[in-house]
Amino acid sequence: MSMYDLNSSERALIDYYRLSNTDHNYQDIHLLGSGFVKDLESKLVNYYEQKYCLCVNNATTALLGIWLSLGVKKGDLILTSPISYPASIAGMLLLGAIPYFVDIEAHTLSINPDEVAEILKHIRKIKAVLSTDFYGIPADTKKLKQITQEFNIPIISDSAQSFGSKRDNKPGGYFADAIVISFGHHKCNFAGEGGAILTNSRYVYEGLIQNMMHPEYQKIKVSDINEFALNGRISPYSAIVANSNFNKSLSQLKLKQKKYLHLIDIMNRTSLIEPIEFKKKHIIPSFYRLSCSWGNKEELSQLTDVLFDLGYNVNVYKDEINLLYDSCRIKKLNFKRTKKEFSETENQVKKRFIVTVHD
Ligand SMILES: Cc1ncc(COP(=O)(O)O)c(C=O)c1O
Repeated sequence: MSMYDLNSSERALIDYYRLSNTDHNYQDIHLLGSGFVKDLESKLVNYYEQKYCLCVNNATTALLGIWLSLGVKKGDLILTSPISYPASIAGMLLLGAIPYFVDIEAHTLSINPDEVAEILKHIRKIKAVLSTDFYGIPADTKKLKQITQEFNIPIISDSAQSFGSKRDNKPGGYFADAIVISFGHHKCNFAGEGGAILTNSRYVYEGLIQNMMHPEYQKIKVSDINEFALNGRISPYSAIVANSNFNKSLSQLKLKQKKYLHLIDIMNRTSLIEPIEFKKKHIIPSFYRLSCSWGNKEELSQLTDVLFDLGYNVNVYKDEINLLYDSCRIKKLNFKRTKKEFSETENQVKKRFIVTVHD
């Protein structure tokens, strides 16, 4: 972060602190989602090319808000990937909905659209599809959308890890009906906490406001006020930081993406790993993590030596992916499918390792 950005962000934080403590009307800016919150939402709307954006307190609550706005209830099935961050399914579990796990595709580690198509042919009770851009690799929301639109089933993209990623020149999650991002821990635009939901659907946007925003905020945006809404609004401090650092975080990420894509080119040429075909598939991950698969066998020192000779000082360690269907809480609910249905998931987690580059 340059001194300029650090100062502008700090200045905005101090101004807010001072003004909101001397002038109580100033506190309403944030409560009503105007000022810097609105600025941040406008930046996100432009970046994601979506009609609506709502900033919220984190991605976990954002997902709960989406299920509430879609009317998800006990017993509903939601197709999702067993490879994800556990909080991704917290909201649906709280509502008593059932995560119906689907096998992944190897190159993204995300839900496999062909498997989704198969399941939709046989099971009618599916309420939604939740894809996760795991490690910041955008899932194939374009193909998912082509498959699900015939059934009128919404796709929600958990893009918490993938802000700044691209697929076919569009931001990660672009073709989903709602995209969730996070400004939390280790994310590209880190603001301590915070998140946002992007959508083209007026219905989803209004539902989110009715379920997550203060009644005074609702009065500006919707006609049917829900005085029992959650408090899902973003912290003013997070909104200020995420807004001030928006462009800077993206340009810093671009440098990281360039470095990791170059590293992948080099590793692909060694044949020590299974080829990673991001470039061929027009995918630019956010590189939340770089996870690779060993080629024929694990040759750790050979890989690190080759990369060191080419100027890359890397750290390589086993990728310990926890599968959501193996969690004892999920097992207790007894809605796991058999492992046979997850051949790619099981295959990938065995041979995955993480590479990080020392600067
Ligand atoms: C894929 C994924 N979904 C959801 C979350 C939850 O994000 P938040 O901390 O903003 O609630 C995370 C957090 O790291 C995540 O990685």
